[in-house]
Amino acid sequence: MPCDSVALMNGPASAGSAIAVRDVYVSRGAAGAVLRGLDLGIAAGETLALVGRSGAGKSTLLKLINGLIVPDRGEVLVEGRDTREWNPFDLRRRIGYVLQEIGLFPHLTVGANIAIVPRLLGWSPARIDARVTEMLNLVGLPSATYAQRGALELSGGQRQRVGVARALAADPPILLMDEPFGALDPVTRAELHREFRRIQAQVRKTVVIVTHDMAEAFALADRVGVLDEGVIAQLDAPRELARSTDARVRPLLEPLFEARAFMS
Ligand SMILES: Nc1ncnc2c1ncn2[C@@H]1O[C@H](COP(=O)(O)OP(=O)(O)O)[C@@H](O)[C@H]1O
Ligand SMILES: [Mg+2]
Repeated sequence: MPCDSVALMNGPASAGSAIAVRDVYVSRGAAGAVLRGLDLGIAAGETLALVGRSGAGKSTLLKLINGLIVPDRGEVLVEGRDTREWNPFDLRRRIGYVLQEIGLFPHLTVGANIAIVPRLLGWSPARIDARVTEMLNLVGLPSATYAQRGALELSGGQRQRVGVARALAADPPILLMDEPFGALDPVTRAELHREFRRIQAQVRKTVVIVTHDMAEAFALADRVGVLDEGVIAQLDAPRELARSTDARVRPLLEPLFEARAFMS
């Protein structure tokens, strides 16, 4: 094997990655250059958290992965194929998306919200019903109690659980989560962190979760990438990242140290 392909396979954005971002540049409106030569590789079954300040380009990166936007330069590969070469419908079938304000359709029941993508895919009603039940049970909302409820009759935490159930309904291998727990109170958020870990241990998706909260990233992810000035400043397991001396990473760790100092 030529040594450049070995280097690629071991590199940060190897050809075998579920998602590979290579030397990507993106400009957005008045913001100008948002991503500036960003490289990132995400392995199948990995949970990767992307942490950065507001405006750092975290959501932009997720939109690149699901093909909503394309890079000005560089390439984004999903399962080895450039997002520009994917049929957009096929690409989005491979990807579940969970947002902070997930926008459940308020006039639909919980069950109908979860059934949206399976319906689009033309599944039979029996298969859809079975899947809705399975997904509600997975996220800890018993189907008998919740499937027929209106989406507006739920608490914030319950809505986020439904958002996760909806994103997983068609069993996509990739899950993108954009500040999914950002709007929740800390107790509910901690509860959903535990639930997330339980569900991920069961379903083993390739997950990219965006957050501005390092504590959340540490609680959820196998590896954490810090996005700063349009590049990944550091990408490491939480344990290594916590010891970072990088001036771009330290400020994001400060809230953790403050909390710890206060408790000790
Ligand atoms: N649709 C858009 N049009 C123009 N500028 C945008 C658009 N979306 C985001 N931006 C700008 O791009 C930068 C990065 O945004 P975003 O990726 O949403 O950041 P983050 O999710 O990290 O807070 C910001 O300066 C933002 O104002
Ligand atoms: Mg964002």
